[in-house]
Amino acid sequence: MTKRMAVILAAGKGTRMKSDLYKVMHPVNGLPMIDHVMRAVEQSDIDDIVTIVGHGAEMVKEALGERSQYALQEEQLGTGHAVQQAAEQLEGVQGNTLVICGDTPLLTSETLSALFKHHEETGAKGTILSSVIDNPTGYGRVIRAEDASVSHIVEEKDASDTERQVQEINTGTYVFDNQALFDMLSKVSNDNAQGEYYLPDVIGLLKEAGELVQAYPMADADEGLGVNDRIALAEATRIMTQRINTWHMRQGVTFYSPETTYIEADVEIGSDTILESGVSLKGQTQIGSHCHIGANSEIVDSTLADHVRVTQSVIEHAKIASHADVGPFAHLRPQADIGEGVHIGNFVEVKNATIGKSTKAGHLAYIGDADVGENVNIGCGAIFVNFDGKHKFRSNIGDDAFIGSNSNIVAPINIGDRAFIAAGSTIVEDVEDEQLAITRSKQSNIEHYWDKLQKRWKEAEK
Ligand code: UD1
Ligand code: MG
Repeated sequence: MTKRMAVILAAGKGTRMKSDLYKVMHPVNGLPMIDHVMRAVEQSDIDDIVTIVGHGAEMVKEALGERSQYALQEEQLGTGHAVQQAAEQLEGVQGNTLVICGDTPLLTSETLSALFKHHEETGAKGTILSSVIDNPTGYGRVIRAEDASVSHIVEEKDASDTERQVQEINTGTYVFDNQALFDMLSKVSNDNAQGEYYLPDVIGLLKEAGELVQAYPMADADEGLGVNDRIALAEATRIMTQRINTWHMRQGVTFYSPETTYIEADVEIGSDTILESGVSLKGQTQIGSHCHIGANSEIVDSTLADHVRVTQSVIEHAKIASHADVGPFAHLRPQADIGEGVHIGNFVEVKNATIGKSTKAGHLAYIGDADVGENVNIGCGAIFVNFDGKHKFRSNIGDDAFIGSNSNIVAPINIGDRAFIAAGSTIVEDVEDEQLAITRSKQSNIEHYWDKLQKRWKEAEK
């Protein structure tokens, strides 16, 4: 098979984004745009990948690591100039080279493979991936000769009024005969409205030299979206979300309203799980089968086993075992490790704590830096006092313990199995197995208090 190479253009700053973050690093459904592009390229049987970096080079290289070779474009003199920077790695090599922009995150490997195939079968020297769209504003237009063959590409800023009417656009994705590409790049000038060396000019130059150039129109025009500003970024996220949600529905996940459910690229969900409206699933989240995630819950980088129920809660970097239920309005923070069948109720916050099987914390509690045993009852308003203003300390609670309402468990501390903490107690010393600890003062009831009060008030009025 002919050798396949790829050049990914990622050196631009992205002025139109009006951002401190380099354009290709802007995330779409949790992954930088450049990562989406890289994934599509990686799945297209390509032997050598060179990414052109410039603005934010270190950040882009860190994001992609060893998945690519790199060439530095020190000054951004245009897309043609950018490709030239890959000469050291690719010039003179026989084969075909895909050139793709780092700001087209919706392109799929199926489309790239079809483009390669079309190019290889027609024997063209250059094939543009084109697309016919309703609003071509901002894109380079594919200009065809009278016989309908591709003539050249004209950029929006250089186009005449008639050329601007053309709805077939250049998606910024091409396959070239590698040697022809580098030959022609040396001939590209910067005599145009932007004073840049345009890569699309290679198409016109190949045509002038009598070579075969082709445009391969894409079946799904949405895929070609190039993100140059925040409006296109939102559009890319909308389309990606639709694509991801449809995929999960095909795998057996129920969505109450897919249009309000946001799921990032790497999230996994088991079948028969139900997602209510407004759910956000982010990062490296994995959700088992038969889970039910209630409206407006946000789950980030967390793992949920099967049959977990979450109601309107925020869960980040946490782990939940099967048959546990969380919420409404609970907050599981990093390293919360919730055991099987545990109940975490409303306004309960858990951080860096393991909660044993079948333990219940029904309402209004803070459990931080703790190891809580199985079948423990944590009363309403219980607080694990883990911080002295400078250091954090851990609490250990044995199995079947009862932590009374409104108690303070002051760490470091050990509370034994089947121990009882009386409601309202502040516990600063260890409690052994099966002991009751109570620290509140004895109650005294004063008889006839109302009468005494009346008398006092009358005295005061005199
Ligand atoms: C480009 C195409 C246009 C096409 C559109 C598709 C050119 C001249 N125009 O326009 O025909 O319709 O993409 O989305 O190619 N880059 C560099 N170095 C540079 C300049 C750009 O690496 O010197 C990178 C950018 O980081 C970006 C990509 O090339 O990832 C495209 O650049 P951009 O400025 O977005 O080009 P468009 O104006 O979108
Ligand atoms: Mg662009």
